[in-house]
Amino acid sequence: MCGIVGYVGRGSSRAFVMSGLEHLEYRGYDSAGFACIESASGKLLFAKAVGSLHSLVRKLDGSSIDGSVGVGHTRWATHGAATELNAHPHFSADKTISVVHNGIIENYGVLKQRLIQQGYSFSSETDTEVIAHLFDEVMQRMSGLEQVVQAVVEQLQGAFACVVLLERYPDYLVAIRRRSPLCIGLSSGQQFVASDAAAFAEHTRDVLFMPDSSYALVERAGVRLFSFAGLPLDYVPMRVDAQWLRSTKEGFEHFMLKEIYEQKRVLQETVAFCSTLSQDAWKQTGFSAEVVHDLRELFFVACGTSAHAAQIAAFFFEQIDQIRVSVELASEFRHRALFGFDHSVFVFLSQSGETADTLESLRAVHEAGLRTFSLVNVPQSTMARESDGHLLTQAKREVSVASTKSFTSQVALLYWLAFRIAYEKGLVPQDALAECQQDLLVLAEVFEEVMERYDSFIAHDWAPRYAAYEKFIFLGRQISYPLAREAALKLKEIAYCFVDCYQAGELKHGPIALVEPRVPVFLFSVLDEGVYRKLIGSAQEVKAREGRLVIFAFEGQDELIALADDVFIIPHVKPLLGPLAMTGIMQLCTYHIARVLGHSIDKPRNLAKSVTVE
Ligand code: F6R
Repeated sequence: MCGIVGYVGRGSSRAFVMSGLEHLEYRGYDSAGFACIESASGKLLFAKAVGSLHSLVRKLDGSSIDGSVGVGHTRWATHGAATELNAHPHFSADKTISVVHNGIIENYGVLKQRLIQQGYSFSSETDTEVIAHLFDEVMQRMSGLEQVVQAVVEQLQGAFACVVLLERYPDYLVAIRRRSPLCIGLSSGQQFVASDAAAFAEHTRDVLFMPDSSYALVERAGVRLFSFAGLPLDYVPMRVDAQWLRSTKEGFEHFMLKEIYEQKRVLQETVAFCSTLSQDAWKQTGFSAEVVHDLRELFFVACGTSAHAAQIAAFFFEQIDQIRVSVELASEFRHRALFGFDHSVFVFLSQSGETADTLESLRAVHEAGLRTFSLVNVPQSTMARESDGHLLTQAKREVSVASTKSFTSQVALLYWLAFRIAYEKGLVPQDALAECQQDLLVLAEVFEEVMERYDSFIAHDWAPRYAAYEKFIFLGRQISYPLAREAALKLKEIAYCFVDCYQAGELKHGPIALVEPRVPVFLFSVLDEGVYRKLIGSAQEVKAREGRLVIFAFEGQDELIALADDVFIIPHVKPLLGPLAMTGIMQLCTYHIARVLGHSIDKPRNLAKSVTVE
């Protein structure tokens, strides 16, 4: 959330910063700003604009604001509406100190009151502005940049990544990180600071991921890193793989559509990845024979789409491994008491590996002395670095804010993991691993085949009809219920429709009162005969009340298919992979409704790709 880019070097900071911000716009896009130290005058200059980065580009056009040290920001509002006053950077009263910030200063209310009593006045509603005034206040009574930064950070509570520009220290960017991601791109004669290395990928791939509770003094010639206690820290930069840093639409109208169509490859690459996991690599995950033999309960902790992937995977571990599974939403898990988990393993699931709710849950589990394991998509992410063991999902960089391919990669890898653990527990022979990989390869073919079969129909016939409805009910049962939830989330995120999602069996316990012709009911079938028969009953209940039924069914499920107003028929795959076989067309349905409605698909309103605030 919120994109930060800073540059210090010999060139035009504005050019570097603005190009970097373009790559981070997915992190927030309600306003943007730029500030720099003008090289000739040593003065701090700035510009801000409401709306997308483009508004800022237009504002800067024709202006001479530039300098060799600069910083920019795209905002995702937390405190205060998306106005120019609330846009970053924020300043000290005399405009000699500027701050851009991502995260939340939890004690900003207390700090603000104290600063007001000291005579400071505030021009924005943000928590960020307290940082600028705090720097001013400390600099009145202290000198030495290191001492000043330390005196400020020790007053701040919460999670924050900030970059500070100070007229008094015109050659420096001050980068501060606590529980919010911030990294530094190291290069000769110029350095970059950003919330995501994608911002400076074309200039350097040598990246210092700032450790938690650290600050850096970044100069043209190099970087000095310190702990919040003021101790100098050594660091070794990481060389980041280029494929992580940039992505293009490759001719597709939107990143989301491109990413939907990448899923066959993602499934194939998941299988290829699993085949290369040697016994040694497996041991590093932390699922040693002793851990697995002792394992009674798996806790998945995740948010949003990742939580839906875990809810599907829960059926894998229960059916294949006979392990009890709980899926916890990370934002709620944070409030639970941690005790009695001697035979449990905690698995944290996240595409970005930076989601604050999940990351803080991981830290809480770690602090309780329990083992942490994560499944993340971004190898250089904080979760990958902080977990005791981790596995990488194979989606590669996902740009569209609405997750698609990362969901598929998570479910596929968890399917394999369930078999791998079953093998470790002695429940299945080694052949079962090869068979499970074959199941995933069959699924990959089916996945793309059904999308190709229905894409044109969905785009030109189906979506224009369903885009006319404002409210929907989605139903699933057993393993298709989390898929229905994921479908509902997609439609809410990008088409802004109201969707209520239920376990089909619950329909008769109340929600059936909502069924009427103007509220289409989407029903997702399963490949379990007993559950399928119950779904027929739910579909009949809807039809009996003149409900409009869109059914996602499997070949041969004729009794259910006959009840549909619109139907998508999917070839058989392994029953546990049924939800994934429906995923591609479900995503196409939501994508095309949003497209017909003319929404901003890759950057939906109010959202951001990486949710780094709790
Ligand atoms: C939905 C979506 C979000 C994320 C959630 C968790 O399309 O993208 O619901 O799934 O914010 O993000 P990660 O997986 O990065 O932890």
